[in-house]
Amino acid sequence: MKKTVTFQIAIDGPSGSGKSTLAKQLAKRLGYVYIDTGALYRAVGLFASEQGVSADRPQDVVPLLSSCMLEMRVIDGGNTVFLNGRPLGNEIRTETISRYASQVSKVPEVRAFLLETQRSIARVENVIMDGRDIGTVVLPSANVKIFMSASPESRAARRYRELIAKGERAVYADVLKDILWRDKNDAEREIAPAVPAEDAVLMDNTNLDIEGTAEAAMRIVRSKIPVK
Ligand code: DC
Repeated sequence: MKKTVTFQIAIDGPSGSGKSTLAKQLAKRLGYVYIDTGALYRAVGLFASEQGVSADRPQDVVPLLSSCMLEMRVIDGGNTVFLNGRPLGNEIRTETISRYASQVSKVPEVRAFLLETQRSIARVENVIMDGRDIGTVVLPSANVKIFMSASPESRAARRYRELIAKGERAVYADVLKDILWRDKNDAEREIAPAVPAEDAVLMDNTNLDIEGTAEAAMRIVRSKIPVK
């Protein structure tokens, strides 16, 4: 039978606040599809850098968008973004592309370009979507909206540990500087700034581990939508 009612959970918050870890946990527990919208902005950032656009002039990507074909496929509950047919992996996770992504995300035409891709998935599936403007712009009628936060120092420490665990070289002070730059760039932009929706539940997870964060979020989810 055709599914007519879908449930939507929006998780927003700044870089490194644990959104994607939480969203993946909830998706697994609830059997929902997890959509990482940051990956789409990262794909446009990669496209811009490959086309020779300067990170300081992100608007220069606009005339090139007609040759940027993006597709998001959900494979085994995870997301793979395809750029002109090419599956993207860790090349969109570098510090350079993080910066490009944050820059192109300030361009209204880029946000409009990605809006329909994001909404179309939520029309046919129960989704947990993470990003910066999911509760405010992409899915304003989401059943559950959570806005995550954690101190910049604890987010930088998590990111630093992740990089070291992956065998990469990292300096904590640089990681913190990068997080503070992205917080400012994402929160102060004129269009769809990363701020909580009026009806979002705020969750500070500075002192919570992954399990504690998931439990707290599940309590919020159960109060808003039917959970088996
Ligand atoms: O979540 P992330 O770090 O992968 O996101 C990369 C960049 O994309 C981030 O700096 C801001 C932007 N972004 C956005 O503007 N809106 C979203 N819904 C998701 C990400």
